[in-house]
Amino acid sequence: MSENLLLNVTKLSTNFYLYEGVMRVLDEISFQIRPREVFGLVGESGSGKTVASLSILRLILPPGRIISGEIFFEGTDLLKLPQKEFSKIRGKKISMIFQQSRTALNPFMKIGEQIARIYRTHEGLSKSEAMEKAIESLKRFRIPEAEKRVESYPHEFSLGMAQRVMIAMMMACNPKLLIADEPTTGLDVTTQAQILDLMKEARDKIGTSILLITHDLGVAAQTCDRLAVMHAGHIVEIADVEVLYGRPLHPYAKALLNSIPRVDKKVRISDIPGFVPSLLNPPKGCRFINRCPKVILGVCEKAKPEMIEIDRGHFVMCHLYEGK
Ligand SMILES: Nc1ncnc2c1ncn2[C@@H]1O[C@H](COP(=O)(O)OP(=O)(O)OP(=O)(O)O)[C@@H](O)[C@H]1O
Ligand SMILES: [Mg+2]
Repeated sequence: MSENLLLNVTKLSTNFYLYEGVMRVLDEISFQIRPREVFGLVGESGSGKTVASLSILRLILPPGRIISGEIFFEGTDLLKLPQKEFSKIRGKKISMIFQQSRTALNPFMKIGEQIARIYRTHEGLSKSEAMEKAIESLKRFRIPEAEKRVESYPHEFSLGMAQRVMIAMMMACNPKLLIADEPTTGLDVTTQAQILDLMKEARDKIGTSILLITHDLGVAAQTCDRLAVMHAGHIVEIADVEVLYGRPLHPYAKALLNSIPRVDKKVRISDIPGFVPSLLNPPKGCRFINRCPKVILGVCEKAKPEMIEIDRGHFVMCHLYEGK
């Protein structure tokens, strides 16, 4: 792919080596993120979304291991970088926010000091300059009374407010890529909308690309430019959001998206019949085979389908579309 890409993940596989056997959690997933885009990763619980984000951040710990693949970021393969070089990228060019960020904040340190520390480390600013910047960044993310709030400790913030502080912190060094894993789960709808708006605003102002992981299809529709649908460690479809919601191709994506009849009705991905297959002994071919209404016996169980580009930028991994 010759176009300008920020992140290019190719055939990434991550296993967990458990007492019970080898868990093949990510099986050769590939996707690309362009500069300034919000790219969503959706799929039901256990499909491997978090493992994918942790793999990009090189945070997979034993018994887990990335076994193959490439993760090119700004033209450099992150998996080949020495640890020291990689630590210069993580936290500066690539930052992350997780669900319940408050746990990632130091409970014993004032918020202002925590943000100021980032400016001091990354930009070499003096103590007072860094604090100025910390206040500025809280204001940028609409924390009221920022001058006063820098003196507060994390527990003094509501969950939604703590999440905003976290975004302010993660945006402090103008990252190229923000990985947000379920950043709004557990928040009320209004706070959720505010957080998503803030992230989009950060994209518009700073030009940060966002990898948004969510199991909420409403959030994905509202926020993402493009979307990858994950099922049991495979990415089964990738397309622009409007294309995917308008014309899903993969039987799993169809089931997923046809199950959103009305905007006001919350539909969970887990409403799809059947279960995600065990990743300890996954089917050899398509991993959706046991749940698929369109299964072609004699074909689907034999080999993993190839990812095919059906229309420009619309990819699907399903035997139904082979030769079309
Ligand atoms: N440290 C670990 N040790 C063993 N298995 C793990 C570990 N981390 C993840 N897994 C397994 O990998 C699979 C994918 O997990 P992952 O957390 O990526 O799912 P997810 O798509 O993020 O789900 P959710 O929506 O619930 O967050 C699961 O079957 C999980 O049990
Ligand atoms: Mg997860």
